[in-house]
Amino acid sequence: MKSFLKCFFCFSEKQPKISSSKNGAYPWKTYTLKELVHATNNFHNDNKIGEGGFGTVYWGQTSKGIAVKRLKAMSSKAEMEFAVEVEILGRVRHKNLLDLRGYYADGDERLIVYDYMPNHSLITHLHGKLAAECLLDWPRRMEIAIGAAEGLAYLHHEANPHIIHRDIKASNVLLDTEFQAKVADFGFARLIPEGVTHVTTKVKGTLGYLAPEYAMYGKVSESCDVYSFGILLLEIISARKPLEKLAGGIKREIVEWAKPYVQKGAFDRIADPRLKGAFDRDEFKKVIMIVMKCTDPNPGNRPSMLEVVGWLKGGMESRKKEVTIVKNHVVDEYDEDEEDFEDDETDYEVFEMEKYMTSRGKKV
Ligand SMILES: Nc1ncnc2c1ncn2[C@@H]1O[C@H](COP(=O)(O)OP(=O)(O)OP(=O)(O)O)[C@@H](O)[C@H]1O
Ligand SMILES: [Mg+2]
Repeated sequence: MKSFLKCFFCFSEKQPKISSSKNGAYPWKTYTLKELVHATNNFHNDNKIGEGGFGTVYWGQTSKGIAVKRLKAMSSKAEMEFAVEVEILGRVRHKNLLDLRGYYADGDERLIVYDYMPNHSLITHLHGKLAAECLLDWPRRMEIAIGAAEGLAYLHHEANPHIIHRDIKASNVLLDTEFQAKVADFGFARLIPEGVTHVTTKVKGTLGYLAPEYAMYGKVSESCDVYSFGILLLEIISARKPLEKLAGGIKREIVEWAKPYVQKGAFDRIADPRLKGAFDRDEFKKVIMIVMKCTDPNPGNRPSMLEVVGWLKGGMESRKKEVTIVKNHVVDEYDEDEEDFEDDETDYEVFEMEKYMTSRGKKV
């Protein structure tokens, strides 16, 4: 397998080789097909966790729980994804990145083995099977956002060469037993050699999360991930999908949906109703501001992930005073004259927000 990967990186001139880990050893295990067939009960339907564009993911049991991604059909594209994923995941180590346990590659079979994440992915909690249970309260959502941001900041600023993920989205943020975020799916990732500010590639990723310059011109830089993270952050606090289908087949982007409420300071209308108003309003405003900065149409205006981590953490730490729990019920109709939205909306942050939204309006 090592030679297969070497081969892949030789012919793919666009991807620089990743520097070796300290002792040069790959931390992953090469599984036998028999082991993985046994662990997943021969890839039984009952073991199926989910299905993505390139493969099906199964739960399995070895000495501990594993998740096995089985590539659907062998093609050069699938082979490429497999190689990139295994190579990158095998080399990066961070508390907020999903660990690779190993792989199997022979004939037409490509299997990637990860740690099983008992709390599934963010998408399950925001829009899927576990959405009704509402296991994600506000502090948990913030911890997840910070974790995912830290994982990305590591990829952008600490990994060598730097790595752009290119597919940041809710199904690619997995949650461990403690609901700690683990960024997953590196099949679309790009390695960025030092000194290179952006590369131009074929557009990959998921609609709704794509930065405009990437979607239109295929220009990839770290700020594309920052844009996707901004969308994800808004999704985390609102539980709205990144793209909403309206009548007549029209699609509305989540930021376009949120903008009018941001301009009015009607933050309660953006918040996931399942939070039942139980969130710190100041923190919420700060998060919205971060969302707006991350999703700025001009990549040059977007912050770095390190800044985002700092702001998100600062937001958490500035919870000095009492935690203002806003109304314990959901507002049914937003009324501009309603007292609730008037009280502190003239403060500095909202003023800044208005200035920012106005300047943004000009740019768009
Ligand atoms: N290690 C894991 N533990 C638990 N669930 C996992 C694990 N890896 C993947 N999943 C879940 O399995 C499902 C399928 O994942 P997969 O990455 O194949 O597709 P996807 O992320 O939904 O879409 P795409 O193909 O566009 O990436 C997702 O819901 C994902 O969250
Ligand atoms: Mg995925």
